Amino acid sequence: MTNQSDGMTSANVDWDARAASFDEEPDHGLSDPAVRRAWAGRLRGWLPGRADDVLDLGCGTGSLSLLASEQGHRVTGVDLSPAMVTLAREKLAGRDAVFLVGDAAAPPVGEQRFDAVLVRHVLWALPDPARALRHWCGLLRPGGRLVLVEGVWGSTDPVGIPADRLVGLLTPMAGQVRVERLSGDPLLWGKEVTDERYAVVAPARASGQELGEASAAGA
Ligand SMILES: C[S@@+](CC[C@H](N)C(=O)[O-])C[C@H]1O[C@@H](n2cnc3c(N)ncnc32)[C@H](O)[C@@H]1O
Repeated sequence: MTNQSDGMTSANVDWDARAASFDEEPDHGLSDPAVRRAWAGRLRGWLPGRADDVLDLGCGTGSLSLLASEQGHRVTGVDLSPAMVTLAREKLAGRDAVFLVGDAAAPPVGEQRFDAVLVRHVLWALPDPARALRHWCGLLRPGGRLVLVEGVWGSTDPVGIPADRLVGLLTPMAGQVRVERLSGDPLLWGKEVTDERYAVVAPARASGQELGEASAAGA
């Protein structure tokens, strides 16, 4: 399935050019302590309770990676933009975290497997979301989960992926899919928002081999 609803893909955004100012948005840089606390609280509920391996895909400047690291997780971040990766490395310097330049749809993590794949505001812009989701399920250890934070932004020319579409894509490959609505919590965004924003937490139903994805990396 191709993300044709809006014509927007990661290919037509210059993320390198956006990197230096990316953290200026309250929900990007999390510099406001109230916004930061709001995301930290949500993340604690989405990620495993014990220290685990978290793969943050399309990690940007590493703001969620840092929260995950502060909660005790080992983080691998992947982003297509070298400028974003440089900022993420700086943000998490000295922590148990590595950042790689690569495609979120087929991250360059070799045989490594993870307890959680965390993806915020990235899936909507990938050209083939269903294929990416199958691949991500294949990167999970048994008992692992996908944590996806997405939405539909704007009213005149909205971009994004609605929750019901994402749930439909996930249902064949994941266990019970939990949707958490986020629009009603202005602390997360630093303002009131009216468009659709949500998180999905989904345990992978099948192993990577069963899904045939991890072994077919790049396919
Ligand atoms: C809206 S930003 C979100 C950043 C981060 N996840 C966050 O929530 O702060 C989208 C990020 O995805 C990255 N990105 C876009 N397409 C990508 C792809 N195909 N593979 C890896 N990263 C990608 C961009 O470089 C950018 O850093």
